[in-house]
Amino acid sequence: MTSREIRQKYLDFFKKQGHAVIPSASLLPENDPSTLFTSSGMQPLVPYLMGEKHPEGTRLADSQKSFRAEDIEEVGDNRHSTFFEMLGNWSLGDYFKKEQLPWFFEFLTKEVGLDPKRLYVSVYSGNAEIGVERDTVSVEIWKEIFKKTGIEARDIEDADKKGMGDGRIFYYGDKKNWWSRSGAPANMPVGEIGGPDSEVFYDLGAELNRHEKSKWKDEPCHVNCDCGRFIEIGNSVFIEFVRTEKGFEPLPQKNVDFGGGLERITMVSQGQDNIFETDLYSGILEKITLLSGGKKYRDNMSSFEVIADHLKAACFIMGDDKGVAPSNTDQGYLVRRLIRRAVRYGKQIGINKDHWTKEAAGIVIEKYREIYPELARNEKFIINNLDEEETKFAKTLNKGLKEFEKMDSGKVTGQDAFNLFQTYGFPLEMFFEELDRNNIKYDKDSVMGEYNRQMQKHQDMSRTAAAGKFKGGLADHSEEVTKLHTAAHLMLSALRRVLGDHVHQKGSNITAERLRFDFSHPEKMTDEQKQAVERLVNEAIAGGFPVKYEEMTLDEARVYGAEGVFESKYGEKVKVYTVGEGNNIFSKEICGGPHVDNTSSLGKFKIKKEESSGSGTRRIKAVLENQ
Ligand code: SER
Repeated sequence: MTSREIRQKYLDFFKKQGHAVIPSASLLPENDPSTLFTSSGMQPLVPYLMGEKHPEGTRLADSQKSFRAEDIEEVGDNRHSTFFEMLGNWSLGDYFKKEQLPWFFEFLTKEVGLDPKRLYVSVYSGNAEIGVERDTVSVEIWKEIFKKTGIEARDIEDADKKGMGDGRIFYYGDKKNWWSRSGAPANMPVGEIGGPDSEVFYDLGAELNRHEKSKWKDEPCHVNCDCGRFIEIGNSVFIEFVRTEKGFEPLPQKNVDFGGGLERITMVSQGQDNIFETDLYSGILEKITLLSGGKKYRDNMSSFEVIADHLKAACFIMGDDKGVAPSNTDQGYLVRRLIRRAVRYGKQIGINKDHWTKEAAGIVIEKYREIYPELARNEKFIINNLDEEETKFAKTLNKGLKEFEKMDSGKVTGQDAFNLFQTYGFPLEMFFEELDRNNIKYDKDSVMGEYNRQMQKHQDMSRTAAAGKFKGGLADHSEEVTKLHTAAHLMLSALRRVLGDHVHQKGSNITAERLRFDFSHPEKMTDEQKQAVERLVNEAIAGGFPVKYEEMTLDEARVYGAEGVFESKYGEKVKVYTVGEGNNIFSKEICGGPHVDNTSSLGKFKIKKEESSGSGTRRIKAVLENQ
């Protein structure tokens, strides 16, 4: 059965049971400051689980786009993905356990056709401290359900310590069989809702000796063991409690919140033990093979999985109607991280061409455009942003790799790693990967220790620099100094355009005669580069751009894309100066001022000198000549 059939069958099945099928909510949650992304189907429905009336009634079903950023490092193990579709059904104070458990079982065994013998379940063992009893009601229902298929389902205590024996129903406590947005009861803040849950697991097969061959072989195997024999395919949460100042109290209504991973249900229905070996990923994996010049998924599983998952996730986040582009902040930062990780892993498996991510993304959009039409609506936005981010990152990476090659491989230090990160955004993990790939020996602890020390020092220095920078680095506020100060903003923007995004201001000193400006860049500028910078600045002057400022928080400045030093106290307001307007913005920078009102008064910009100013830093002296 294809994933598309399973999704449809699920929705049809619950429609038959009186559910209204509702569209997936946005991946970018509304009115939920606690989280950046929708990571379960339940999140957008919280107000209704708490008693508000839902316009579609008390029985709802959907397939919810979900993203779990915390799983980003887990991808590559066959069963984790950051993006997934969660099949969900809800009772908003309507039906409860005795309907929910048989329905889900029926869906799995009759609609999807899974063998009931391969299904195992868990239930909540209770917690006297919070006054919630063990879930014997669910146990009795499960026994009844299995009995109808001819299976005698035994319930077993402490399977995690004693092993599962011949049991089919297992008790677990707060960590495994209680669900709330913040996890176990002890972690729930006042006002949060949650309750006991009952999970269904699929047995991928003891016959494969998964446990005996795994690193858990000395511990007993049970459904929540990590050996890979069992996989959880659905969770019925009985949301009936709210945490109050006094403890756990019953909600005015008893709810069901069911969530099942479409990827995993599809996987077991297709007889696989790997979500990536289903039709949900086959298209993009084939594309990756083509792009890499014929590398096989089977030989490079983790890399292929990271690329497929990350690009898919990035497509869905950017393709949401509230879609966000890559940036340095919040959700945009995650998009940036996803794309950059995909590009890195792409490099590792030999994808050498440029502009490839959009080709892979095309496959994702094609596959989902009918089910999630927002992807089709926002196709251009996805493709443009993806391509732009890939290009930006590729440029920086290549420069970083060149520097890496120049490094003294006889004694690799944390300072090397830090310099690469600082100047090129070359990530530490990639530094280690490159060392391994080149068989270079190093002491990981010492490299990491030094790297962390340098990072701390840098952050402290930036803070000091920020304080100084806001004072201006200006000799005075005379007209000449002010003009040169505006010219410095134009120059920084021009440098970044000509040399790349690794360029940041490191310091400045401006008198009435000249500006002196230090910036991060590892090598001497060529004459062509200097001329290009001069030309760009003089064009901006000739353009007669207005110069304006706005006050905003650092976070807003980051979202706005302003250049500057961001380490600062939370909530502090900064001034952001913009040169240009509308579609024609030349520079955006955090700065205390002052500046001229319009660039047309600046005269002619000329670079007088370009020289080193310490490791990885260059210094320019420049003037404005009156015309
Ligand atoms: N809220 C539960 C989960 O995310 C079930 O939907 O697992």
